Amino acid sequence: MVFSKRKMKQFLAFGVTIVLVICLYKSWGSPTNGGPPYGEGFDDEALNDGEMAGRKVFERVLKQTQHDPSKTASSSLVGGNSYNGPSNNVGIPPPDDYDPAHDFRMNELHEAKRQILELQRKIQELEGRIPRKYPDVTFLNYKNRKRILITGGAGFVGSHLVDYLMMQGHEVIVADNFFTGRKRNVEHWLGHENFELIHHDIVNPLFIEVDEIYHLASPASPPHYMYNPVKTIKTNTLGTINVLGLAKRVGAKVLIASTSEVYGDPDVHPQPETYWGHVNPIGPRACYDEGKRVSETLSYAYAKQEKVNVRVARIFNTYGPRMHMNDGRVVSNFIIQALQNQSITIYGSGKQTRSFQYVSDLVDGLVALMANNYTQPVNLGNPVERTIQDFAEIIRDLVGGKSQIIELPAVEDDPQRRKPDISRAKKYINWEPRVPLQEGLMKTVDYFRKELARSNHSQRNIFVPETTEFRNLV
Ligand SMILES: NC(=O)c1ccc[n+]([C@@H]2O[C@H](COP(=O)([O-])OP(=O)(O)OC[C@H]3O[C@@H](n4cnc5c(N)ncnc54)[C@H](O)[C@@H]3O)[C@@H](O)[C@H]2O)c1
Repeated sequence: MVFSKRKMKQFLAFGVTIVLVICLYKSWGSPTNGGPPYGEGFDDEALNDGEMAGRKVFERVLKQTQHDPSKTASSSLVGGNSYNGPSNNVGIPPPDDYDPAHDFRMNELHEAKRQILELQRKIQELEGRIPRKYPDVTFLNYKNRKRILITGGAGFVGSHLVDYLMMQGHEVIVADNFFTGRKRNVEHWLGHENFELIHHDIVNPLFIEVDEIYHLASPASPPHYMYNPVKTIKTNTLGTINVLGLAKRVGAKVLIASTSEVYGDPDVHPQPETYWGHVNPIGPRACYDEGKRVSETLSYAYAKQEKVNVRVARIFNTYGPRMHMNDGRVVSNFIIQALQNQSITIYGSGKQTRSFQYVSDLVDGLVALMANNYTQPVNLGNPVERTIQDFAEIIRDLVGGKSQIIELPAVEDDPQRRKPDISRAKKYINWEPRVPLQEGLMKTVDYFRKELARSNHSQRNIFVPETTEFRNLV
C-alpha cells in the first residue's frame, strides 16, 4: 500500500495522539472536578521523563493541527494558544501558553461570525421577496394597451421584441419550449405585471386571449434546425396551423417570421419578394426552407379562407447580443474565434456574400409591419453586402486579436449570394435599417466578451434598456 506524504503525516499524528491520550490518562487520571485539569502551580519538574516526552509530542501535534484547520474543528476556531479546556475530559495537559481569556474571546468571535452568516442568509432570503426593480415602462390605458403573444419570445430575436413591446407599455406573453431559447433572455421581466412566460411547445394548440401574435417559434440556425429536422418541419407547419387557428378564434392579427431561406440559393440578385426562390426540397436545409415556405402558404390560405389578418416578414441574417454562442453562424463563429485568438474559419473561398442587419433594426421592422395594413410578404434585412472574407477581417480587427483566417471546404447547399431588395419595406412600411455594421458589431463583441468571461449562474443578465433604442415607430 502506498501512502501519500500528507496521508502518512495525518496517520502518524493520529496514532501519536491516541497513544499519548492513553498514556496521559493512565498517569494523570481524569479531570472530573470541573476545574482545569492542570490547575494552579502546574509544574514541568513534577513530570517524569515519559510524561515530559508525552507533553512534547502533545505540543507538536497541537501545532500541526493548528496549521491545518481541517484536522480539528477546535484548533481552527480558537487559533494560537488554544486548548479544549474543561470540556476536554480525557486528561490532556494544556500547553504552557494556554490563556482561558483568549479562548473565551475566540469563541465569542466565532459565535459572532456564525450570527453574521445567519443574518446574511436571512437578508438574502428577504431580498428575494422584495418586488424587483424593472425598467420604467410606458403606461398605456386600457384602450391602447394590447395583449401580445410572442411565440419563441425567449430566443434571440424574440427577447429583443419582448423588450421593445414591454417598454411601449403592452402586455406581453411569451410561449416558448426553450429548445434554443433561454429564460435568461427575458428574466429581467419575470414578475412584471405586464409580462407572462409560458413553457409551451407550439406544435400543441394554445388557448389564450390576445390581440396580436408574433410567431417566431422555430430554431433558426443550421445546426439547430438540422438537429431534429422532423421537429423543425412540425414546428413550422403544425405550429403555424396552431397559431393561425388561435388568431382565427380570437380575431388576433398575426405576423409570421419567415426567412430569406425561402429563396434558397438564389439565381436572382438582390432578391425581391416577387422572386419564387431556388430551394432544394430534399437537401439538408429543406426542413427549414420548405417548412417556412409552407408556413407562408398556410398564412395566405388562412387569410383567404378564414379572413385571418396576416403579415409575413422575410427576415435576412440578423446579429446582435443574445445570439447563441454555438449557433454555427458567421457572426458568432468569427467573434468567438477572434476573442479566443483561434483561427477564423471560412467555409469555401470566402467570396460568397452575406448582408447582416442589427437586431434592433429588425425589431423596428417587425413592429412597423405589424402596425401597417400591407399584407404581402416583406423583406427585412440590411442590403449592405459584404464577402465572408471581409467579415472575417472586420471582426478580427474589431476584436484586436491576432487570429489567422483559414479556409475549409465549402458546406453543402450554402447560398453563394444573399442580399435583400428592401424597396417594398421602404415603400409600404417606411422602414430601412439604420445601425451601421461597426456599431452593431461592437455591441455584439462586447456581449460575447462578457458571456465568455461569465463563470456562474449568479452573474445575472443585467439588462438596462437604452431609451434611445426604443423609438416610437407607430
Ligand atoms: N436570426 C436570424 O438571422 C433569422 C433569420 C431569418 C429568420 N429568422 C426567424 O426568426 C425567428 C426567431 O429566430 P431567432 O434567431 O431568434 O432564433 P432562436 O433560436 O434564438 O429563437 C427561436 C425560439 O423559438 C423557440 N422554439 C423553437 N421551437 C419551438 C416550439 N416547437 N415551440 C415553442 N417554441 C419553440 C426556441 O426555444 C427559441 O426561443 C425564427 O422563426 C427564425 O426562423 C431568424
